[in-house]
Amino acid sequence: SAADKGGFKHYMLKEIYEQPAATQAAFHDRIQDGLVNENVFGEQAAKIFDQVKQIQIIACGTSYHAGMIAKYWMEGLAGIPCHVEVASEYRYRPVVIQQGTLFISISQSGETADTLAALRDVQDQILASLTICNVPGSSLVRESDLHLMTNAGPEIGVASTKAFTTQLVALLLTTLVIGRRFSLTQEKEREIVNALQQLPSLIEQSIAMDAEIEEMSQAFAEKHHSLFLGRGTLYPVAMEGALKLKEISYIHAEAYPAGELKHGPLALVDKDMPVVTVAPRNDMLDKLKANLQEVSARGGELFVFAGCTQNLQSAEGVHVLGMPEIPEILEPIVYTVPLQLLSYHVAVLKGTDVDQPRNLAKSVTVE
Ligand code: G6P
Repeated sequence: SAADKGGFKHYMLKEIYEQPAATQAAFHDRIQDGLVNENVFGEQAAKIFDQVKQIQIIACGTSYHAGMIAKYWMEGLAGIPCHVEVASEYRYRPVVIQQGTLFISISQSGETADTLAALRDVQDQILASLTICNVPGSSLVRESDLHLMTNAGPEIGVASTKAFTTQLVALLLTTLVIGRRFSLTQEKEREIVNALQQLPSLIEQSIAMDAEIEEMSQAFAEKHHSLFLGRGTLYPVAMEGALKLKEISYIHAEAYPAGELKHGPLALVDKDMPVVTVAPRNDMLDKLKANLQEVSARGGELFVFAGCTQNLQSAEGVHVLGMPEIPEILEPIVYTVPLQLLSYHVAVLKGTDVDQPRNLAKSVTVE
């Protein structure tokens, strides 16, 4: 009913708007004196983390995209070797599990059949298991040695939104506590914890772009294909943006790491194929700008989400949507929000069943 939706037209929109509070709930209890309290992972946490040599992340769907971002953090911030794979591949191939492997499953529901099977298959070969999960008492929580709840609250819309951004918060906290045993300094940890305090308000500011994004969605409603580009941690964000558009608007959307554009997808770009890019604020920006010029030279219409210091201006065929200034570590979390809103508004324009897209289920508990 409308009451359950808190006055919103769809659960998905309500859940997008809940993200400032949901992400806050994912970190605020877990911080003590400016550092992450590792006891929140479980009684055995310190003992287990002391022995971790590398990490294997397993997940499906949107949760897999969270895992891909975590890999950039684990290796890039803290020097922790980290692999990520979708559960349905990992469980059906012979795998080599190195000594000292912490197996991290990521799941909104805690009941996804492939993710659960992957954990069960490796139980006796791993150091320990940790699940990042949104449903207390779910199978993954019960069967893992450690767990960190995402605290997003019930997610009803089939297309995952607040579960994803809270998974990212939980994975960042996980990177910090394990990273202490690797190359992450306490000073850096304090800096990141400090940045996290700004997250709810930065998400709020992205949600404030809603009307502008609604207008932008008109350029997509009649299209059959679209391309999403990103680099670094924003590459998985592009993947998640493309997945959202596919799931609820039924428009074919493909994500590419921006640097791969010239190795194939550039051949597809023309006026009928809009390109969305989430712009990083680091040294890769110049390369990304060069890639973007190649696309507009071929008549492609570009939609660029970028911070205002990024020196990108709207021009013929190039629409720049100004994002707030975001600390680099929070970019993948905050940049996800406008892409959720974009897919939502395109789906509404197309008149699809936003909360219950055809052929899809909230939780895939049987293969
Ligand atoms: C289904 C849902 C997705 C979700 C995926 C993994 O495909 O429609 O939204 O990301 O399952 O689910 P999990 O509960 O394991 O995160």
